Amino acid sequence: MRVFITGASGHVGSALVPDLRQHGHSVVGLARSDASAARLTEWGAEFVRGDLDDLDGLRAAAEGADGVIHLAFRHDAMMTGDLSAAAETDLAAARAIVDALAGTDKPFVGTSGTGLLGRAGLDRPGTEDDTMPGGYRIDTENFVVDAAAKGIRTSVVRLPPITHSTLDHHGFAPAFITFARRNGFSAYVGDGTNRWPSVHTIDAARLYRLALESAPAGTRLHAVADEGIEVRRIAEAIGRGLDLPARSVTPEQAPEYIGFLAPFAGIDNPTSAARTSELLDWHPTYPGLLEELAEDFYFRTA
Ligand SMILES: NC(=O)c1ccc[n+]([C@@H]2O[C@H](COP(=O)([O-])OP(=O)(O)OC[C@H]3O[C@@H](n4cnc5c(N)ncnc54)[C@H](OP(=O)(O)O)[C@@H]3O)[C@@H](O)[C@H]2O)c1
Repeated sequence: MRVFITGASGHVGSALVPDLRQHGHSVVGLARSDASAARLTEWGAEFVRGDLDDLDGLRAAAEGADGVIHLAFRHDAMMTGDLSAAAETDLAAARAIVDALAGTDKPFVGTSGTGLLGRAGLDRPGTEDDTMPGGYRIDTENFVVDAAAKGIRTSVVRLPPITHSTLDHHGFAPAFITFARRNGFSAYVGDGTNRWPSVHTIDAARLYRLALESAPAGTRLHAVADEGIEVRRIAEAIGRGLDLPARSVTPEQAPEYIGFLAPFAGIDNPTSAARTSELLDWHPTYPGLLEELAEDFYFRTA
């Protein structure tokens, strides 16, 4: 398949592009800079220059492909707290891609987060069948899933808050590490018994490929390996890596100590991937988050 990918030059893309190439697909990535274009070329992909605001460019690139994967997200806006700008750009990009693919039965794999289920008030691990009516990133997830009715084989991969590996240079794990270095302690919110799921980048990338190749239309998928690790244990593992103590902060103090992570840090988000594993025969094989935090690469590079 000739696959158009937004965000191909990023963290998840750095595992996904090689995986797709190894499985016989060709890749055209959206590149908004010379540096991103050079990375794509190095990984054996073609590129089309443009950014998420160039909706005509997105439509044209999607029309020229056999399938589309949408990974790009305005993390720059998210990190300055402008969540709505990031989400609006995401939804507009998804709309442009759906315009281009309507009636073709081609696959379109979108991206969402398991974190949305942390706000659903569930008293059990979240499943692929759990949905939310609307909100940050949820509107795009629902729009992409519903676009199955327009003759597109849509699916959405919900990623956990921490997708980890040596390829991860600016996700939530490096961010926690950067804040811990600055604070002199590794912070968690409240008693830290809230749980976060996680997945290795290479396992997540394989799920995107399987979704592209064979997910049924209108499917939500969970890229989850560790169902839920207490955030306090993650903070303690980071503390060990930096030789710093782990310490609780209150929700009110969180913005001071963990900046843009504050709105996410307190959510309890245990998440199951049982349905995804069964549906696509996807079984994570790479090391878990705590195993990786016991190695030194995050502390050398973050
Ligand atoms: N990694 C995680 O732990 C995690 C967790 C939950 C959800 N997600 C979601 O998964 C997706 C991929 O994440 P990631 O970790 O691979 O992110 P990343 O490393 O930050 O990569 C983001 C990609 O989007 C591109 N991009 C950003 N703004 C753009 C714009 N305005 N126009 C065009 N391209 C733009 C970047 O291009 P440049 O290379 O030019 O910067 C890069 O290719 C995102 O939607 C992210 O929010 C990730």
